Amino acid sequence: MRVAVVTGAAGGIGAAVARAFAAEGYRLVRLDREETDSAPDDLAIACDLADPGAVAVAFETVAARFARLDALVNVAGINHRSPVKEMAVADWDRVMDINVGHMFLTAKHGLPLLAQGEAPAIVNMASISGHVASPDYPAYVTSKAAVESFTWALAQEVGGRGIRVNAVAPGWVDAGFTHAALDGLDDPAPIYAAAREAHLLGRMAKPEEVADAALWLASPAASFVTGQTLFVDGGLMRKH
Ligand SMILES: NC(=O)c1ccc[n+]([C@@H]2O[C@H](COP(=O)([O-])OP(=O)(O)OC[C@H]3O[C@@H](n4cnc5c(N)ncnc54)[C@H](O)[C@@H]3O)[C@@H](O)[C@H]2O)c1
Repeated sequence: MRVAVVTGAAGGIGAAVARAFAAEGYRLVRLDREETDSAPDDLAIACDLADPGAVAVAFETVAARFARLDALVNVAGINHRSPVKEMAVADWDRVMDINVGHMFLTAKHGLPLLAQGEAPAIVNMASISGHVASPDYPAYVTSKAAVESFTWALAQEVGGRGIRVNAVAPGWVDAGFTHAALDGLDDPAPIYAAAREAHLLGRMAKPEEVADAALWLASPAASFVTGQTLFVDGGLMRKH
């Protein structure tokens, strides 16, 4: 039996990750500020992942139930649209606290449990936004670059203990943030046309395609892969 913690499991990509891991036979702990459905033998914990005390309590619950962890998949994240000049300090801090800070907190409390697991691995959700600047989202792009730096640092710290740490960097995903942005539009067609143009494969990713990459990185099949970013971007980063 393998046990996985998935953060952001109520979201578009996080829910797909949870489904993929469950289908592979993992027992799941879903962490999100929103309520999530859960199988009877699994755990769903509602908590603010930017709150250090709440994350500590959540991992105490995981330890009491499972006493081990084989995979930690950090998917939770927020977006915030604002130019630097107009951004409130609190908004900048919140993006950093959730998008990067929660990965520090879950690793800090998850590592002792991962040490009890078999072929343990951490997968952090990065983004092509950490590599391609976007003028309206300075906090988001900075946080996503930091996700990768944190991934490399942690991979160095825990490699000697046999714990692998990698990141997945999606392009545009037809779920979650993207759907939230499309909801505010009268006509989503121009966004889908822009996605066809942006990706070599001519479309957005399905959330399941991102989930499958996380599942592979967390699995023993990726046993010699650590400190890497796997771009699941339909070739966006290779487009001129
Ligand atoms: N949708 C995309 O196109 C896309 C592209 C690249 C990367 N990503 C990344 O994928 C991840 C998931 O994005 P998504 O599109 O599924 O968005 P989403 O909004 O559907 O999911 C994010 C989840 O995180 C949870 N969350 C946010 N703040 C939280 C907090 N403080 N405490 C607990 N839970 C919290 C939300 O409740 C939500 O369920 C994010 O890290 C995002 O940066 C998304």
